[in-house]
Amino acid sequence: VSPLAGFAGRVRVRERMDAPDVDPRLLRKALHNIRRCNRFLGGTRALLAGFDVLAKDWAPGRCVVFADVGTGSADLPRALVARGAERGFTIEVVAVDLHAQTIRSARAGPITGLELVRGDARALPLADRSVDYAMSAMLLHHLSDEEAVAHFAELGRIARAGVIVHDLSRSVRSWLWITALTRLFGDPITRFDGPASVRQAFLPEEARALAEGAGLREVLVRRHFGHRFELRGEPARATRGPGR
Ligand SMILES: C[S@@+](CC[C@H](N)C(=O)[O-])C[C@H]1O[C@@H](n2cnc3c(N)ncnc32)[C@H](O)[C@@H]1O
Repeated sequence: VSPLAGFAGRVRVRERMDAPDVDPRLLRKALHNIRRCNRFLGGTRALLAGFDVLAKDWAPGRCVVFADVGTGSADLPRALVARGAERGFTIEVVAVDLHAQTIRSARAGPITGLELVRGDARALPLADRSVDYAMSAMLLHHLSDEEAVAHFAELGRIARAGVIVHDLSRSVRSWLWITALTRLFGDPITRFDGPASVRQAFLPEEARALAEGAGLREVLVRRHFGHRFELRGEPARATRGPGR
């Protein structure tokens, strides 16, 4: 996607990994690179840092249920389950993805603590207030503004305690970084989807406005290493402290 279109607004692009008929071999390579990116470029670290902050308020030994929407190959849910065990909690994650091949790839890995479900971020197949925390990572930029509002509303509908959204932030610098990195280390899908993701990413304040428009309360955004941001909010009828 040409940077000449400017970065003042989003430029919407259909990412190759979202095509239902994507070549399975190429999709597997792209998912592998996304896992490497989470591992080495701060995605997993940022999520686990947020987890540790939340866990300070939990009673020891609690079972805490997350939903992770747009889960990809479910490496982030696995990291949550492992961190929970280290800290003495039982973490269960309902991991949701729309893409049939992607959810199949996720099911091929270890599934302890995970329930893997095919479903759409805009109309989740989960009951109201059925999880403690509802999250997504690197999904928001795949959605139009209207779809992002629907996604925030869905996260707020299914969560009892909180909503957490991680994504890339749109900027020339992040576009330059991701273009260079994906040219050096990328596969055919991430070489296209990486720069496209930045072109269609939200600024943190744009994401916050949409989250508030979707009815989330106490919305906060924080920037993280690697041109990422974390948005946190509470559902309209939040309960204090998770667990069951
Ligand atoms: C860039 S990947 C991020 C994967 C993972 N969350 C991570 O951070 O590593 C985006 C994922 O969102 C999924 N996705 C795209 N649109 C979706 C939708 N409407 N509902 C659910 N998942 C969707 C894609 O299939 C893909 O697996």
